[in-house]
Amino acid sequence: MSIIKLNAIDSTNNFLKDLSRNQSVDNFTVVVAQKQTNGKGQMGATWYSEEGKNLIMSILIKDVLQNYDEIFHLNVAVALSILQVLEDFDIPNLSVKWPNDIMSDQKKICGILIENSFKSNTKIESVVGIGLNVNQNKFDNLPKASSMALVAKNEFNLDSILINIIFQIKKNCSWILSNQLDKLWKVYHKHLFKINVPMAFEDAIQNRFMGIIKGVSPEGKLQVLLEDNSVKNYGIKEIQILF
Ligand code: BTN
Repeated sequence: MSIIKLNAIDSTNNFLKDLSRNQSVDNFTVVVAQKQTNGKGQMGATWYSEEGKNLIMSILIKDVLQNYDEIFHLNVAVALSILQVLEDFDIPNLSVKWPNDIMSDQKKICGILIENSFKSNTKIESVVGIGLNVNQNKFDNLPKASSMALVAKNEFNLDSILINIIFQIKKNCSWILSNQLDKLWKVYHKHLFKINVPMAFEDAIQNRFMGIIKGVSPEGKLQVLLEDNSVKNYGIKEIQILF
């Protein structure tokens, strides 16, 4: 496994995707940067991170997913890896907000962006981008963002978190490979943000409604129990949890 350390780059995800397009790159190769000039978030958002304060990394994962139906298992494995590492660093009240934001209490401390490319029907290559807020102390205009340092009132060593995350991701990927998906999903559901709690939601056409999160389907859809007692599955662009 190699770790490529960069001072500045547009996006570590883009860097790793380009690298693997142009040359053969080992499985679990990691790219870390001090600063991104065009960090990408989910659904076309921009990911901002103060230079040198946080963990900005991407990791190449191949030969783990065999087909399209399995794609969300990797989201589960990665989100849990971060959660497990943060638990070891004593970060309190952790949960995974569907699909894969890592929360401490009601605040997001880590975002994950997984970009999959299909090399063939059975060959899927994933670039897993992780933005973990570690030592940043201020989040202007982002009232729902926080960092490990803010919640734990402590500074952390970026390298030691990085090593732990890589180790845990490899371990959880080995669970996918050995078909121990039930274990992963059980822990994911145990830590799912607001599971079984009545919540307000907004759909894609700005309708607001009440519901209760019952779980996430194997394809990665959020399963919400509605007021008429039906359970509806929502994709990522179809629903927002209001909290
Ligand atoms: C989200 O919107 O929650 C996902 C954020 C993912 C950010 C990380 S930072 C490292 C990697 N490179 C990127 O451009 N994005 C991801």
